[in-house]
Amino acid sequence: MPIIKEVPYGSALYDEVVELRRELLRRPLGLDFTPEELAQEKHDTHLAALDADRVVGTLLLRKVDERTARIMRMAVVPEAQGRAIGRALVEWAEGIARERGFETIMMHARSSAIGFYEKCGYHTVGGEFLEQGIPHIRMEKRLKTE
Ligand SMILES: CC(C)(COP(=O)(O)OP(=O)(O)OC[C@H]1O[C@@H](n2cnc3c(N)ncnc32)[C@H](O)[C@@H]1OP(=O)(O)O)[C@@H](O)C(=O)NCCC(=O)NCCS
Repeated sequence: MPIIKEVPYGSALYDEVVELRRELLRRPLGLDFTPEELAQEKHDTHLAALDADRVVGTLLLRKVDERTARIMRMAVVPEAQGRAIGRALVEWAEGIARERGFETIMMHARSSAIGFYEKCGYHTVGGEFLEQGIPHIRMEKRLKTE
């Protein structure tokens, strides 16, 4: 099982993470991250799943408000999908969010990934909308306080 690590913004590992999600999330749509989007990521928490030092999965966690954090830019390389790496990344992010006192995590899930987030305990809220030209839906989970 890969190890999960927090990635400092602007580090060499961060550049690898951005390249991975550019390849998996944006290029297939004919898009890229804008400089503004990447600049905004300075305040986010970046996670990478590393398999023998290679990045095989990632997400970022962003503060929405005092109570709510948001998971974004979730991706696992195709050859590592279905090995519970996505779930491990989400659980890791939930642990950080809980530690920081957030009560809820939300995301704009691609409709194709709804089943994955449901397996992680999230439920849909409201209807579908388009982002980057593809259907998305808001999903949420209330974090249990232990
Ligand atoms: C969606 C994604 C992040 C899932 O990561 P993963 O590492 O393959 O997922 P896991 O192996 O941790 O799966 C956890 C569970 O969700 C299920 N699952 C995974 N992807 C699924 C999907 N797209 N639809 C339905 N169920 C899915 C798995 O079968 C597994 O179920 P199980 O616990 O019964 O075995 C990954 O497939 C991916 O990067 N997809 C392309 C990019 C994308 O869609 N990103 C999300 C944007 S919102």
